Amino acid sequence: MSSVSDFTTRLSQRRDYVNGLISSTLSKHSDINDDLKQAMAYTLESPGKRIRGAMVLWCSELINGQSNCYADTAAVAIEMVHTYSLIHDDLPAMDNDDLRRGRATCHIAFDEAMAILAGDGLLTMAFEILAGEIDEPKVSAKLILELSQAAGPAGMIAGQAADLRSENVAGDIKMLEYIHLNKTAKMFKAAAVMGAISANANPEQIEALAEYGTKMGLGFQIADDILDVCSSSEHLGKTVGKDEKAGKLTYPVLIGLEQSKVIAEKTANQAIGALANFDERADVLRELAITMLNRTR
Ligand code: IPE
Ligand code: IPE
Ligand code: MG
Ligand code: MG
Ligand code: MG
Repeated sequence: MSSVSDFTTRLSQRRDYVNGLISSTLSKHSDINDDLKQAMAYTLESPGKRIRGAMVLWCSELINGQSNCYADTAAVAIEMVHTYSLIHDDLPAMDNDDLRRGRATCHIAFDEAMAILAGDGLLTMAFEILAGEIDEPKVSAKLILELSQAAGPAGMIAGQAADLRSENVAGDIKMLEYIHLNKTAKMFKAAAVMGAISANANPEQIEALAEYGTKMGLGFQIADDILDVCSSSEHLGKTVGKDEKAGKLTYPVLIGLEQSKVIAEKTANQAIGALANFDERADVLRELAITMLNRTR
């Protein structure tokens, strides 16, 4: 594998590339209502890590040797749906956060109604671009199905509902795994699978990348829960210590910090294990798993 600094450079190049795709997609849609567009762009263009977008591109490249315009569109679409989920997650009726990506949350910078609508706009537009920009109908339909299932009421939204219902009630590991799988891991799985679909991967490749994405997402959310306890708001760009205050069900609450780190590491290794049938071209995905585990933001 390459050095840590090589990988960091590759990840930041991907982030910049995804940022460029996002800006050009927004600028092509000149018919969006001005106020709404401002609110959508505000959180979408603020400095997210673009991990899901990078995963789409890297999984597509793994299959095809190079990324293509289907993967580009899929990367933008998943970042739009992810950003909508953050805008709504921060609303007063949900996690009631005022800091996101180092800036005031959308409902603080604009107002609650506009933040709800900005989220609605991003969610809807993601499917508009998957339907409108991909000229191969079968690929388009598969991408739409994958993303809608991951983000929908048997996916991310189910996880968010369970997350909110678990506040201040005695939960167990089974409930926590359900929350993490749905609110976070299914979107990571979708990122990996959408990359594979964009590159016309075979069923075995899709299955392996689905497993990789799922484990990545589970590890990513454990790390997120750990960072809420261990990091600072300044470094993280979002409020820390919120989970405990809100009575959230998290790994640190249930099993303590040290055990949480052990489970996160085990999960990252399972993600790497899912790539066993791929050669060194999958190293970038292996490094992503290690980086996600040791991430500080
Ligand atoms: C935050 O996701 C929400 C979780 C699923 C933990 P990220 O940590 O990927 O947020 P951004 O996109 O970089 O802001
Ligand atoms: C949110 O989990 C996951 C989403 C689906 C948005 P969190 O509520 O822990 O995410 P942060 O910590 O606010 O980013
Ligand atoms: Mg939340
Ligand atoms: Mg939150
Ligand atoms: Mg969190």
